[in-house]
Amino acid sequence: MIGTSATAAGLGEFIDASPSPFHVCATAAGVLDAAGYTRLYEEQNWPSAAGRHYVIRGGSIIAWSGGADTGAGFRIVGGHTDSPNLRLKQHPDRNDAGVGVVALEPYGGAWLNSWLDRDLGLSGRLAYRTATGVEHRLILIDEPVLRVPQLAIHLSEDRKGVSLDPQKHVNAIWHTADAEPDILSWVARRAGIEPVDLLGWDLMTHDVTPSRIIGAEQDLLSAPRLDNQGTCYAGLRALLDADDQVAARQHESEPVGHRPARMLALFDHEEVGSGSERGAASDFLATICERIVLAERGSRADYLRAMASSFCVSGDMAHATHPNYPDRHEPNHRITINGGPVLKVNQNLRYASDSLGEAVFAVACADAGVPLQRYTHRADLPCGSTIGPITATRTGLRTVDVGAPQLAMHSSRELMGTHDVPMYSAALQAFYLSTAR
Ligand code: CO
Repeated sequence: MIGTSATAAGLGEFIDASPSPFHVCATAAGVLDAAGYTRLYEEQNWPSAAGRHYVIRGGSIIAWSGGADTGAGFRIVGGHTDSPNLRLKQHPDRNDAGVGVVALEPYGGAWLNSWLDRDLGLSGRLAYRTATGVEHRLILIDEPVLRVPQLAIHLSEDRKGVSLDPQKHVNAIWHTADAEPDILSWVARRAGIEPVDLLGWDLMTHDVTPSRIIGAEQDLLSAPRLDNQGTCYAGLRALLDADDQVAARQHESEPVGHRPARMLALFDHEEVGSGSERGAASDFLATICERIVLAERGSRADYLRAMASSFCVSGDMAHATHPNYPDRHEPNHRITINGGPVLKVNQNLRYASDSLGEAVFAVACADAGVPLQRYTHRADLPCGSTIGPITATRTGLRTVDVGAPQLAMHSSRELMGTHDVPMYSAALQAFYLSTAR
């Protein structure tokens, strides 16, 4: 396998620092800053010289390295920053049965049973009034504050479990005092904001249990939000490792030829369909690519030529074959934990892969020296989707859908293999360095 800086422990740290999409962007920005990237703002003019930059739009971030060589275009790794969870409503407080209850609303396809009986913290973004206008800031309360207790088995009708109603059964308890503290004021004070000045909030819950490497051989990573911070982290390390590789080759004065710009594009709102100002269905990626070309004095035609030369690897996690449910998987397509990156193909375009994209990713895995697994969903089960078909539709970029294997997708606590983290990142790095398209 080619050299990579990605590790399972590193992924665990990344995830633990990033309970909300906004925090994924902040964590990635911190890593990019330390590596010499500079942040650009969409409201401002951009430098004409090629460089290493990033832009944040809410819970989405795009980072890139190198200039827009029109003939080479962009090599893009895409992913998503959001994960299913439980989020605060507008008037969340009430007092039921003598306990303080916070009303929560499921976001995305949360596997609701997995959110019960866990110690939950809070994170997200607050908008508040200041002397000069409105500002916003991130908030992270990484302490057990909330809990959704499940029903005692003795109170269930048949002791076989209960079906969970997203309106009634996922509200959290957070105090027993007679006084009625309200959670938004409590959060505002924790953020140093006068409660009366709090005007808006994107607040969500997370399990405060840290990620952990487990198993007799220490070859499993138990963590929240692997879908899809597994890709955010692997793509980020791949981008920086590819930078180092290109710099080393230039240092050895090996001719580098026409190199595409390397880009990492991580979008919010994938779990709810990608339709927002910052989702994969927005203009974000196309706008950033066009502005890079225009800032370097290129024309609109140059931008369109660059896009025609570009390629996108859409990374999202993949379903490993579950040992307790082997019948839920397509025969002859066993996907193993620690078995290497996964190519995802669906004839009805839930994934964007086609034969050309399959070849590009197969070359990347071969260049990286890692095995490639090929996934197809059973035809009689509904297949999930990714940002792949959406970005392809929005931008015309040739796209392939890939991932790393995991179990328990959309649970509040997921599971993947420790060896898959460096293998996945190495394959993405090889894609950045390859010229196959
Ligand atoms: Co996903």
